[in-house]
Amino acid sequence: MLDTVRKLAVVTGASTGIGLELAREAAKNKFDLLIAANEPEIETAATELKREGGKVETVQADLATTEGVDALYEAIGDRPVAVLIANAGRGLGKAFLDQDWDDARYVVDTNITGTICLIHKVGNDMREQGDGRILITGSIAGFLPGSYQAVYNGTKAFLDSFSYALREELKDTRITVTCLMPGPTETEFFERADLMDTKVGTEKKADPAKVAKDGWKAMMDGEGGVVSGASNKLQVAAAHILPAETLAKMHTKEAAPGTAEKE
Ligand SMILES: NC(=O)c1ccc[n+]([C@@H]2O[C@H](COP(=O)([O-])OP(=O)(O)OC[C@H]3O[C@@H](n4cnc5c(N)ncnc54)[C@H](OP(=O)(O)O)[C@@H]3O)[C@@H](O)[C@H]2O)c1
Repeated sequence: MLDTVRKLAVVTGASTGIGLELAREAAKNKFDLLIAANEPEIETAATELKREGGKVETVQADLATTEGVDALYEAIGDRPVAVLIANAGRGLGKAFLDQDWDDARYVVDTNITGTICLIHKVGNDMREQGDGRILITGSIAGFLPGSYQAVYNGTKAFLDSFSYALREELKDTRITVTCLMPGPTETEFFERADLMDTKVGTEKKADPAKVAKDGWKAMMDGEGGVVSGASNKLQVAAAHILPAETLAKMHTKEAAPGTAEKE
């Protein structure tokens, strides 16, 4: 299927940030696109992506819900999916006990439940069709106990781990699974996660276009994963050595309310 002329790429969370840039990579590489997000801005993204040529379809659905995932899956229909980019996700700042429980749960439902539900459906179709590429947006946050972003980092630890596990299970097929692990990246993520009073929310961050290029290349090369950016690679290496308690303390300095650098 991967050798047919215009292949289909499905990209979740493609309205802004890293997902929009991943969708742009797909469009530039001559894929037709089915892009999804929860808000109407997905239509603006589609208009922009159409300039790259090729077909762009949209689905506006809450991918934290079974109904939302089903709506996206129905929009795929019986078409073979050559590339699935499971990228939709959200953060949530502040101390866990101070977070609204429904907000915390929504992070888990979006980042984990909705993501793996979609991968389960599309992955089975890929197995039947005999090939496919899956890119999962995890994070270097998955290596760090995320004080003041505890739930979010936990979801990314899940996804980083899940991605490598699924890849191993599919090693004898022509389906590849790749994990994109960005560090802090300049997107709407921090504003949405109420992290603008923190150091990580206000410091200089990576360019989402560069992060997406790294992810796209790793996926097309069939790699297991890519940590985007040299300093993030160092941070992951340190995370493998330092005690978890030290890492949690370091994360407090980045993500606790009031840590934002003063102008
Ligand atoms: N920015 C960073 O520093 C960073 C670092 C590492 C990993 N990541 C990961 O990168 C991915 C993309 O984030 P981003 O930084 O590009 O942030 P972003 O600009 O806020 O983009 C998030 C995307 O996910 C969509 N989304 C969120 N919840 C959704 C839901 N319930 N249903 C459907 N779509 C939903 C958003 O669409 P709507 O607006 O329509 O909800 C948007 O398109 C996330 O998985 C994030 O965890 C980000």
